[in-house]
Amino acid sequence: MIINNDTILKDSDPRIRQISQPVSLPLSDEDKDLLRQMFRYVVDSTNEEIAEKENLRPAVGISAIQLGVPKQLTAISFEDVDKNGETIRHEFMLANPHIVSSSVQKAYLKSGEGCLSVEEEHEGYVVRSARIKVKAFDLIRNSQVEIRARGYLAIVLQHEIDHFSGILFYDRIDSEDPFREIEGALTI
Ligand code: CO
Repeated sequence: MIINNDTILKDSDPRIRQISQPVSLPLSDEDKDLLRQMFRYVVDSTNEEIAEKENLRPAVGISAIQLGVPKQLTAISFEDVDKNGETIRHEFMLANPHIVSSSVQKAYLKSGEGCLSVEEEHEGYVVRSARIKVKAFDLIRNSQVEIRARGYLAIVLQHEIDHFSGILFYDRIDSEDPFREIEGALTI
């Protein structure tokens, strides 16, 4: 499968709203291969030279439904700074990730969110939970994992898991008041 900006489903395609199903474990070779290709896309997409040559839009995550495959698979890779100010890379190849708990505290990105399947601007805050706990199978670690995520990672995971329900980030923007401040929310 070739994954690039032409083959990724856009929100004009109703398939992007399809519900994704859990995959069976252990993963099939086909599902492993797809996850690896999705992960490669995300990594390559932030390499300017490769991205330009292969028509990749930069991304920190991608879910299988964006390739027209309604399976609960998502790949994530990005650099972040931990609480000690050290640079760290978050990398996941997840099967069946699901949120098992969420904080009451909210979080949102001040500059809003983007998505490989959305080409138009949708301005406004996408209000999510500031901290979540996710359970999944992770192909990178080749084991079941429990991810305690906060801040940006928590937002990325919620964005990707939303794709499994056919939800796009702008569905969560308050259409009446897109930049409404949320008291006590973590802003990133
Ligand atoms: Co997206």
